[in-house]
Amino acid sequence: MRRCHGKIISGGFYGNIEMNKIENAPILRTREQINNLQDSQIRQIAHAGMGRDDVIALWFGESDEPTPTFIRDAASRALDEGHTFYPPNRGIPELLPALSDYMTALHQRPITEDRITVSASAMNGIMLVMQLLVDPGDNVVLVTPLWPNCAETVHIMGGETRRVPLDLKDGRWQLDIDRLFDQCDGRTKAIFLNSPGNPTGWVMDAESQRIVLDEARARNITIIADEVYERLCYVGDRAPSFLDIAEPGDPVIAVNSFSKNWSMTGWRLGWLTHPPSLGDRMGMLTEYNIAGPTSFVQHAGATALRDGDDYIASLRARYRQNRNIICDRLAGWDRVRLARPDGAFYAFFAVEGADDSMALALEILNKTGVGVAPGAAFGPEGEGWLRLCFGVRPETLEIALDRLEGLLGNGA
Ligand SMILES: Cc1ncc(COP(=O)(O)O)c(C=O)c1O
Repeated sequence: MRRCHGKIISGGFYGNIEMNKIENAPILRTREQINNLQDSQIRQIAHAGMGRDDVIALWFGESDEPTPTFIRDAASRALDEGHTFYPPNRGIPELLPALSDYMTALHQRPITEDRITVSASAMNGIMLVMQLLVDPGDNVVLVTPLWPNCAETVHIMGGETRRVPLDLKDGRWQLDIDRLFDQCDGRTKAIFLNSPGNPTGWVMDAESQRIVLDEARARNITIIADEVYERLCYVGDRAPSFLDIAEPGDPVIAVNSFSKNWSMTGWRLGWLTHPPSLGDRMGMLTEYNIAGPTSFVQHAGATALRDGDDYIASLRARYRQNRNIICDRLAGWDRVRLARPDGAFYAFFAVEGADDSMALALEILNKTGVGVAPGAAFGPEGEGWLRLCFGVRPETLEIALDRLEGLLGNGA
């Protein structure tokens, strides 16, 4: 037993995934949707290994380096200047034009401030969008395997999720668009697409985006385009985006974040791009959830957008190098099957004979000290697979792979 946030939890420090269970919780009449929430298996494996000095933690999606100095300095400056007051609901006057300029340049078409709402992370942005769209009984169609938090936001709202798994054909992930729309019905409020994808690294091509947008327009279904890995793409400088093709009034809401492209995971800053007509509603939703993301953090965000291109280029080069390292190494392991990721910073691979990815991830953690996420965390389609985040120094990645080879490589 140990104490965590004042509550008694059971279980050991690692190797025991039961430790999240809260004992002697008071019996309150909490909502069924909340009682039914699934604990993320990514968090479970992280709990199992946290606190161990020998662990190379590759379970979460983040860089092992802190945010670059020029962004941290901007936050310090903003604090020194006294930017500690409530911000406007949809973003501070310094950040909104910076976002508009950034996106207009990136997508080669005007993206005006009235289409932007700043959020406290992409996670918060996704929750706001579900609050906007989903009534109990509605459904959202998800392209999977997918980062689990997206589905849970639908469930919190009392909605249903429908899963359309990507197909792995000739070593590449592919989306069957007919199957995607076969899953839609009169209660479908949105299609959730994450490209570049977590965990697969799938990058949706521009032609497929156009087909999906046309059909979504015709059926009045909102496309939620989670593009948080947009700049971390290894085919071209960035991934194709729905914002390249969407007209302002189109049913498209793009979710973005400072977390990945600028290594700002702990800052909790993101933004939504939506039709201008939704601005007032997004402002009210922000008001009633958080009343705006932290003021001085938003100032740092404006600096990241303005001065961050060289940093992004260097990050992308490092991740590309890491992707090549891991793809080359895993290609030689007979038990392992990997689809080469075109974007994001994950290797998602199947292990022959593995039918319980959580048990395998725990075995890997305990025997090698490498922390990877079980594929089942990303849905039933991910069972038998593992996800490893390669957003680390190349030398750290090599050490992790040396350790893994002992268990998964040919000599094992
Ligand atoms: C696909 C996807 N969307 C959204 C997020 C959330 O990002 P943020 O840190 O901005 O909440 C993540 C984080 O891993 C992610 O992988």
